[in-house]
Amino acid sequence: MNLDEFKAVQRQVWAESDYPPVGRLLEPGARQLVDAVGVTDGQRMLDVATGSGSVAALAGQAGAPVVDIDIIDAWFDEARARASMTGVDLDLRLGDAEDLPVDDESFDVVLSSFGAIFAPRHDAVASELVRVCRPGGVIALTAWPPAVRTTPWSPRF
Ligand SMILES: C[S@@+](CC[C@H](N)C(=O)[O-])C[C@H]1O[C@@H](n2cnc3c(N)ncnc32)[C@H](O)[C@@H]1O
Repeated sequence: MNLDEFKAVQRQVWAESDYPPVGRLLEPGARQLVDAVGVTDGQRMLDVATGSGSVAALAGQAGAPVVDIDIIDAWFDEARARASMTGVDLDLRLGDAEDLPVDDESFDVVLSSFGAIFAPRHDAVASELVRVCRPGGVIALTAWPPAVRTTPWSPRF
């Protein structure tokens, strides 16, 4: 399987899952992430692999204008609805964590909660997170520890 085929399978698996209930289970992680970073009013924030928008809604409540990117748009409506309940407008965009559709150094804070870790080329993701964050900005992720593997193999691309 090549990289494009692998990503096509990933998109299909995510799109066919019933993610929003799982997203609510993972929301404490998103909350810890937003609290740990101390997102504040007016910071430009990027949420990579936003899913149903937990990080986006929480950071938006803190007053940060948020751009949200995901490789599929299946839960954009859910993310929009959650955010709108607290008066937050989201800028939702389709895109890949390995090739983010945003300008260099355009964010003060770049977050991803259990999201960017799913992209297969971690070096490409790391380069992209650094590229889009301004010098002196903050990049923070949540991830499961390596011992909590859910697949018996890791692809190498
Ligand atoms: C476990 S969900 C986490 C969603 C959200 N961050 C949260 O805390 O609920 C993983 C998300 O990563 C997205 N994703 C997977 N691979 C991606 C990639 N290469 N680029 C962008 N998003 C990706 C999936 O579509 C899914 O929405």
